[in-house]
Amino acid sequence: MAPSELLPRVCGTSPITLLLVCCLLPPGAQGQQFPLRLEVQTPVVPAGGSLLVNCSTDCPNPKLITLETSLFKEAVGNGLGWAAFQLSNVTSDSQVFCSGFCNNIQMKCSSNITVYRFPERVELLPLPRWQPVGENFTLRCQVAGGTPRDSLFVVLLRGEEELSRQPASREPAEVEVTVPVLAGRDDHLANFSCRTDLDLRPQGLRLFQNISAPRQLRTFALPMTTPHLVVPRFLEVGTTSSLNCTLDGLFPASEVQVQLALGHQTLNSTVESHGNTITATATATASVGQEGTQEVICNMTLGSDSREARENLTIYSFQGPILNLSERSAPEGTAVVVTCLAGPRVRVTLEGLPAAGPGQPAQFQLNATERDDRRIFFCNASLEMDGNILQRNSSVQLRVLYGPKIDQAKCPQRLTWKDKTIHLLQCQARGNPDPQLHCFQESSGVEVPIGIPFLVGLNYSGTYSCKAASSRGTHTLTVVMNVRAQNSHAVTIVLGVLVVLGVVTIVAALLCVFSVQKRSDIYHVNQGNTWLPLTSKQPEVVTSGENPS
Ligand SMILES: *[C@@H]1O[C@H](CO)[C@@H](O)[C@H](O)[C@H]1NC(C)=O
Ligand SMILES: *[C@@H]1O[C@H](CO)[C@@H](O)[C@H](O)[C@H]1NC(C)=O
Ligand SMILES: *[C@@H]1O[C@H](CO)[C@@H](O)[C@H](O)[C@H]1NC(C)=O
Ligand SMILES: *[C@@H]1O[C@H](CO)[C@@H](O)[C@H](O)[C@H]1NC(C)=O
Ligand SMILES: *[C@@H]1O[C@H](CO)[C@@H](O)[C@H](O)[C@H]1NC(C)=O
Ligand SMILES: *[C@@H]1O[C@H](CO)[C@@H](O)[C@H](O)[C@H]1NC(C)=O
Ligand SMILES: *[C@@H]1O[C@H](CO)[C@@H](O)[C@H](O)[C@H]1NC(C)=O
Ligand SMILES: *[C@@H]1O[C@H](CO)[C@@H](O)[C@H](O)[C@H]1NC(C)=O
Ligand SMILES: *[C@@H]1O[C@H](CO)[C@@H](O)[C@H](O)[C@H]1NC(C)=O
Ligand SMILES: *[C@@H]1O[C@H](CO)[C@@H](O)[C@H](O)[C@H]1NC(C)=O
Ligand SMILES: *[C@@H]1O[C@H](CO)[C@@H](O)[C@H](O)[C@H]1NC(C)=O
Ligand SMILES: *[C@@H]1O[C@H](CO)[C@@H](O)[C@H](O)[C@H]1NC(C)=O
Repeated sequence: MAPSELLPRVCGTSPITLLLVCCLLPPGAQGQQFPLRLEVQTPVVPAGGSLLVNCSTDCPNPKLITLETSLFKEAVGNGLGWAAFQLSNVTSDSQVFCSGFCNNIQMKCSSNITVYRFPERVELLPLPRWQPVGENFTLRCQVAGGTPRDSLFVVLLRGEEELSRQPASREPAEVEVTVPVLAGRDDHLANFSCRTDLDLRPQGLRLFQNISAPRQLRTFALPMTTPHLVVPRFLEVGTTSSLNCTLDGLFPASEVQVQLALGHQTLNSTVESHGNTITATATATASVGQEGTQEVICNMTLGSDSREARENLTIYSFQGPILNLSERSAPEGTAVVVTCLAGPRVRVTLEGLPAAGPGQPAQFQLNATERDDRRIFFCNASLEMDGNILQRNSSVQLRVLYGPKIDQAKCPQRLTWKDKTIHLLQCQARGNPDPQLHCFQESSGVEVPIGIPFLVGLNYSGTYSCKAASSRGTHTLTVVMNVRAQNSHAVTIVLGVLVVLGVVTIVAALLCVFSVQKRSDIYHVNQGNTWLPLTSKQPEVVTSGENPS
């Protein structure tokens, strides 16, 4: 019998989990047409599962109803026109055949059994550690196993959102499904995953889903611009300065790592963020050994990228000027050496006298005199760096030890006073250290106050010894005081004569001046320039006042 005459035909829709295949005998064959039915409990079975197959016919005298299969089968029952078999350990798709004889004619009927398996592995491959915003990255999902492939779909997810759904290709057993994703700021910390959908709903089963472990993405945005680094141009050894570095447009700002360094020395920095702007501030201390041009580096790292700014900072040392006197307190007549010193490369000028060269001292010697006491010496130091000149000054005061000396001009040696009048003894002594000055009456040894008014009595007459004393010695001056009893008449006459003489002299002087001025008026009138302002030799007030005359 030709195989074409045995073509099976599905003869009806069975309940969901039942597949009924009816195989009709071809028309024209001998006898009545009796179908052989193949009833499968579930045609789609999990791998390693089992199923019941019932072969039945309406043939009144059927013979040898049996099931042909490569699978492990067990007869579980039979009756008139039927035989049932249990198939177990079904591990792969296969075809089963029912066969039997009716009136010596062979009946045959077949059905396909499908095995389903869940994928053994669903894995989303690792994402980039940091993904730049605005660039594509690829989600890759690997699926191993899983059948039937016609019912298997691979779904790529961001959170719950489906980004792509693709059927798993038939071959090979391990497939990789990819999808490009444009990274955005929203994707920062988003969880991506991959899921397989084994959809057996058309086969009367359900939807089986397997999902990979999620992977979190971190995205970042770093502008192309370099950070703005603010650094002083110069920094002196031993001093500190604050540096700061700013960059805008960073995302996520909280993840930025900032490194501020001075040369090879990493600085401790404080980082603050305001929105998308990051500012790092650090304090740099210049130390000995760092002198010269140093680079300050600001490096901002975000994700897999970094931006860097560099600025030059000149570290210098500027010692001095140190102004030194060989003696701070020099006795009069001794030689004093004034020296001004500064560090290397510093040029000093002492009292307008420049040093031979940078780093060299400036010096001069003087013979200490009384006039040099409290004299202040100035020294200027200047350091040139990259065209900038830094200046510093220093001063020192010299004390000269001299004296004591009583000033004859300031201490009248002859005094003539009247009795019962109030007077003041003016006397001054100078010297360094300050001398003590005392005046004693030689005869009585009584001290007279100096610089304090006192009532003069006749007993004050006499010779006084005024003595200035300091640690440097003494100086004595003799003052003679003559106190006279009150004799007003003679004095009044003398004074009267003096007053009259004075008045006469003043009047004569005034007349003389007046006549000179008058002559000068006449001279100007003769010139005729009455309306013109006179030359600057004459004050204007005088000129205008003379015009009417
Ligand atoms: C097999 O099918 C026949 C006919 O439909 C039925 O009478 C019989 O009970 C079935 N056997 C089993 C084990 O289901
Ligand atoms: C199922 O079949 C596999 C090979 O096809 C065999 O190794 C295994 O022992 C069988 N299991 C049972 C329970 O029969
Ligand atoms: C069963 O599978 C075979 C190949 O394996 C195919 O030729 C046949 O058409 C299938 N039968 C049904 C009823 O799907
Ligand atoms: C990202 O991928 C999409 C789709 O493949 C493409 O159209 C787009 O040009 C890509 N964009 C970039 C920035 O590479
Ligand atoms: C992603 O997963 C982590 C850990 O499971 C969770 O803490 C986080 O909130 C998730 N992110 C989002 C955007 O759902
Ligand atoms: C796949 O999912 C099914 C249920 O949908 C579950 O029974 C099975 O264990 C899962 N497989 C893996 C590898 O997680
Ligand atoms: C950065 O430093 C400069 C100069 O030292 C200063 O003027 C500015 O205020 C600083 N900026 C910040 C944000 O600290
Ligand atoms: C930086 O800070 C740490 C701890 O605050 C401190 O131990 C360290 O000495 C600092 N380094 C500098 C260079 O200031
Ligand atoms: C910035 O710092 C990071 C981490 O310290 C380093 O990997 C990177 O090379 C630096 N960038 C530059 C331009 O030096
Ligand atoms: C820093 O100084 C070096 C030479 O000392 C020079 O080559 C470099 O260009 C300078 N850098 C800046 C930012 O001025
Ligand atoms: C200043 O001069 C004194 C006396 O000559 C000397 O002892 C001292 O060392 C000098 N100091 C300096 C800094 O030159
Ligand atoms: C300083 O001057 C005094 C008086 O003019 C003189 O006696 C003395 O010798 C001088 N000393 C020196 C070191 O020149």
